[in-house]
Amino acid sequence: MKISIIGTGYVGLVTGSCFAELGNKVICADNDAAKIKGLKKGIIPIYEPGLKELVIKNTRKKRLKFSASISEAVRSSDIIFIAVGTPSSDTGEADLTGIENVARNIALNMNSYKLIVEKSTVPVETGLWVKRTISTYIRKKVRFDVVSNPEFLREGSAIADFMHPDRVVIGAESKLARDLMLELYKPLKSHVVVTDIKSAELIKHASNSFLAAKISFINAIARICDKVGADITEVAYGMGLDKRIGPGFLNAGIGYGGSCFPKDLDAFIHISEKIGYDFKLLKNVREINSQQQQLLLHKLKEHLWILKDKFIGVLGVSFKPDTDDIRNAPSIDIVNYLEKEGAHIRLYDPSAMPKAKKLLKKVHFCQDAYSAARGSDCLLILTEWDEFKSLDLTKIRGLLRRPLIVDGRNMFKPQDMQKKGFTYVSIGRPVVLGR
Ligand code: UDX
Repeated sequence: MKISIIGTGYVGLVTGSCFAELGNKVICADNDAAKIKGLKKGIIPIYEPGLKELVIKNTRKKRLKFSASISEAVRSSDIIFIAVGTPSSDTGEADLTGIENVARNIALNMNSYKLIVEKSTVPVETGLWVKRTISTYIRKKVRFDVVSNPEFLREGSAIADFMHPDRVVIGAESKLARDLMLELYKPLKSHVVVTDIKSAELIKHASNSFLAAKISFINAIARICDKVGADITEVAYGMGLDKRIGPGFLNAGIGYGGSCFPKDLDAFIHISEKIGYDFKLLKNVREINSQQQQLLLHKLKEHLWILKDKFIGVLGVSFKPDTDDIRNAPSIDIVNYLEKEGAHIRLYDPSAMPKAKKLLKKVHFCQDAYSAARGSDCLLILTEWDEFKSLDLTKIRGLLRRPLIVDGRNMFKPQDMQKKGFTYVSIGRPVVLGR
């Protein structure tokens, strides 16, 4: 099929490359000419495992093209995915200016039947607005359909998530639209949920909110564990074996971050309020999440006492492993706070340092975890990169000024750390004291 993807951000680029890999002719379009120029040369603006290879392979096979002309992309394709950003405004409301602009542009360039697919995460009823906008600005008398097809890609595993989804959600109004979407996703042999547009839009918001609620729930239980001396990993394991609960998203830590959960929750709370429902549960989820960072800092202070002029080695700055994304990463607030208190930060992250350097001007960036530990009063773990699991902890202990590890991601077993001589502080698990 001839597809164009408008918006070459995270979602657009992964979606476009994967559809090309499935054999479609894809144009990824964006009005950022510099970005498009880079992409044409195989320069990928984000770090996502496997994406660069996919882009290069499909560009060579002439299935994937990049264009700075949205109009041209619209004219030469049958299916148009809208994958532009929907950032949060100050009130938490999703800013849909980008969506409206694209809808208008599509309307002005419509030369034959087009299927317009809403891929960006948008508030319920956006589909309706896209349809109205196109109908208002359309010049020629051509048919079109709008469908909602929310994405559920996780950063770090986006390509695998696209190729092997738990489900594909299609919200459509006409048979033609439904059939085209089913045909497009047929190679994935996935479970497909076909529904109306509004329900599809809500599936996305409800899913992300539910996952965020699961994280805040386990973080709240971790606080209880801290108070009574229980172990959150044992509690989560026992809970997760119940098929109705499931083991995923029960890792306690410093809270969720990233480009989706915080923004989507704000937007969902805002929409609910607008339609007359005070979604207190989600407000609580958000509050618990923001408290997790304070909790970590409190734990740190309990052991370091004064932060001024202490050296703190920080491992991890991305909002989760396998990505260089630092948007809404809890680590940023934590590092800023430590610096405000006068601590000196030595930070190492396997991939997010170039982005972090632009934001954290005073931090000393290190070439590896050992350099971050050297001469530090404490090692603070903020992202659970696999690489950290295989660190030579005996070496780390020798490099630290004092053997203190504060782990915001529960990466290690407290008993093992005690055997290695560390004072090891984690989330919702008993503190072990080193010698
Ligand atoms: C999320 C959704 O999972 C995905 O379906 C949607 O399309 C986009 O938003 P992503 O933001 O890439 O994906 O990351 P995800 O793996 O869901 O993690 C989000 C945050 O939650 C991270 O900060 C992570 O560290 C945190 N998290 C996750 C926990 O703190 N505990 C957990 O058990 C799981």
